[in-house]
Amino acid sequence: MSEHKDHRVQQPTRANGGKREMTRRQFLGYTLGGTTAFLAAGPVLPMLRFAVDPLLQPASDSDWVRVVEESEITDEPKSFTFVVKQIDGWYESEPTLEAWIARGEDGKIFALNPTCKHLGCTVNWNSNPRFPNQYYCPCHDAHYTKEGKNLAVSPLPLDQYEVKIEGGFVYLGSLGPNQLVD
Ligand code: FES
Repeated sequence: MSEHKDHRVQQPTRANGGKREMTRRQFLGYTLGGTTAFLAAGPVLPMLRFAVDPLLQPASDSDWVRVVEESEITDEPKSFTFVVKQIDGWYESEPTLEAWIARGEDGKIFALNPTCKHLGCTVNWNSNPRFPNQYYCPCHDAHYTKEGKNLAVSPLPLDQYEVKIEGGFVYLGSLGPNQLVD
């Protein structure tokens, strides 16, 4: 007795004037696939946006902060505070920063950050009689020259702000390694 197999392929049914209709299995497949993709994209897209959003922010002149009139700056370092706007991802803040600003021997204005490079205490200018005309840190006795060179305890010089002079005012920019000393 010969076995007779039916090799006909099942075609989607046609109705409505020859338009191809979707089978129940195809319909369920599309529906479940679409729902899964939608649910998966929900938590991923905001994370992706969160990660790249700061990169999409245009750089602007607002990175510079006007701090003081140029005429106020002398050879003797003076402390000035200023407020900056910080955007860290979605978090915005306006911390108050401090800079010691002075003129160098060449007359150029420079600005140093008062954070001690030993363990982060705050230095002051000319505050210890043992170290006249130097920045001194009260925490562990670090001291620095007027240009921020580390003389003891601290492994690094004081950090330096970018400076620009415009319209008779001193503007401070980003903070970086000290370029005044070796
Ligand atoms: S933190 Fe300034 S000397 Fe240690």
